[in-house]
Amino acid sequence: MSTETRSTSRRALLVKVGLFLNGIVGVALAVPIVRYLLSPLAREKNPGYQSWLSLGQLAQFPAGQTRLATYRNPIVNPGDGQTANIACWVRNVDDRTFQVFAINCAHLGCPVRWFPQSNLFMCPCHGGAYYQDGSRASGPPERGLFQYQHKIEAGNLFIQAGELPTPGQPVAIKLGGKSPCACEPPCA
Ligand code: FES
Repeated sequence: MSTETRSTSRRALLVKVGLFLNGIVGVALAVPIVRYLLSPLAREKNPGYQSWLSLGQLAQFPAGQTRLATYRNPIVNPGDGQTANIACWVRNVDDRTFQVFAINCAHLGCPVRWFPQSNLFMCPCHGGAYYQDGSRASGPPERGLFQYQHKIEAGNLFIQAGELPTPGQPVAIKLGGKSPCACEPPCA
């Protein structure tokens, strides 16, 4: 084999190796982009996003009281472990009206605690406080606690738990026409 032929075949081999490596890098870059583009479809097909999860039987939530409940995040990865257990506060107003509050403070997300002695939710981080209906009482939060959509079926309390409540979602209920938001209407 002549020197020129050997050089040509080596160059062709290097070109093939280069194309192969470029292909691997291209696929590695394309996978997350394609997944991102297809995520709305996956979201529609994944029932976890819209799933109603039971917080338990109504008997666990006595009238006039606010109790802590937990549920398992329906959108979990195998390695999520205990972090997929999410707490929330359930308020049974009168056995017919319930409120389910996200445990996270509307300021920066610290878990709030319920103090029945003062009928307040208190945030340990910066002193935010909320009334029993979730509306803002004082401190840095600019609005009330976020609430889950909920429903009662067959003696069980269900929440729509695929997504955490955000300001963009309507609140579950309004009490006496009063919004849980601190600001005057309209408020997201
Ligand atoms: S996180 Fe609750 S007051 Fe700041």
